[in-house]
Amino acid sequence: STIDWDIIGAEIGDHAHFLIKEIEEQPRSIERTLSGRLDERFSTAHLGGLNLTVREAREFKRVKILGCGSACYAGDLGAQLIEDLARVPASSESASEFRYRNPVVEPDSLYVAVSQSGETSDTLAAVQEIQRKGGKVIGVINVVGSTIARQVDGGIYLHAGAEMSVAATKSFTSTVAAFALLALHLGRIRDLSPTEGARILAGLAKLPAQITEILDAERDTGAIEAVAKEIATRDSVLFIGRRRGFPVAREGAQKLKEISYVHAEGYASAELKHGPLALVSPELPTVAVVPDDDLLDKNTSTLAEIRARRGPIYAVAHRELAAELADRTIVIPANEPELDPILMSVPLQLLAYHAAVALDRDVDRPRNLAKSVTVE
Ligand code: G6P
Repeated sequence: STIDWDIIGAEIGDHAHFLIKEIEEQPRSIERTLSGRLDERFSTAHLGGLNLTVREAREFKRVKILGCGSACYAGDLGAQLIEDLARVPASSESASEFRYRNPVVEPDSLYVAVSQSGETSDTLAAVQEIQRKGGKVIGVINVVGSTIARQVDGGIYLHAGAEMSVAATKSFTSTVAAFALLALHLGRIRDLSPTEGARILAGLAKLPAQITEILDAERDTGAIEAVAKEIATRDSVLFIGRRRGFPVAREGAQKLKEISYVHAEGYASAELKHGPLALVSPELPTVAVVPDDDLLDKNTSTLAEIRARRGPIYAVAHRELAAELADRTIVIPANEPELDPILMSVPLQLLAYHAAVALDRDVDRPRNLAKSVTVE
């Protein structure tokens, strides 16, 4: 709709870059994704455009999510949300890989195509391949009336407003929020209790104020900018996380490499000892995603392993970590564990932004990349 563009316009205003404008817009862009969709009465999410009957929503056995780049990482978090809340097996895969391997399309699966622009050619091709084989595809898309939005059988619009900078930021957090709505909706049709539904609804409603809190804290302290300046002097950075923290780490690495050109890799924490630990040294910093959840002990023992090799550690956590575990901790507010990844992504966006600025990069138009890749 045209309202998106009027309220959150494609104007840079007083900001130095579109990227920082879009990072700072996230309290409002998330609010718009949630707007009119939180159903307190039945502790569920109302999603008008899904085009799924209750029976269809109850009966499919698996969910397969497809997208490229940040859309694929957001899909990884979407898959975890759907498994957690709806208890349906779900996975995410890059649309480009899927389309080229003669995928098995199952009639009892639900397919979800994720795309900010709605124009990515690999994602469109994946949708067409699924539909040709009789599969049902819904979209999680930002641009209204885009090619993929018109191709899918139903879906969820993000309503995040125009995203001008090449690197995805507000579309990433809005996509994860949209998946939380979808997971809640499917969960409440299946086995998620009203109490659990209400817990997720309350968590969703808190997100905008908590993102504001993260942005305000950075304006006051410059703590993330300080870490970014250290990182900008390095050749390579490791991002690690477990479970929900893993896609957050991958997206954090993606942001850093895209806009600052500092090499970065996102790794599952437990995989460190199967390879990347060989790289750890005082020259290779690690950015660790460390939520205060049931895996906290596992995460801190990974940090100790890195520390034993004298690797610098910067953590994003819910409370200050001991000095033996992290050189610096960026402390952010906690939400429900399922929704924490949305908040944990924001400091990593700011980290990439400030590193890119410190290195004097073309933040909004990184070399060799395009906002939407409409050719192969
Ligand atoms: C390009 C952009 C990425 C984006 C990806 C998918 O590679 O540089 O930032 O995540 O396309 O774009 P989409 O519009 O399909 O979400």
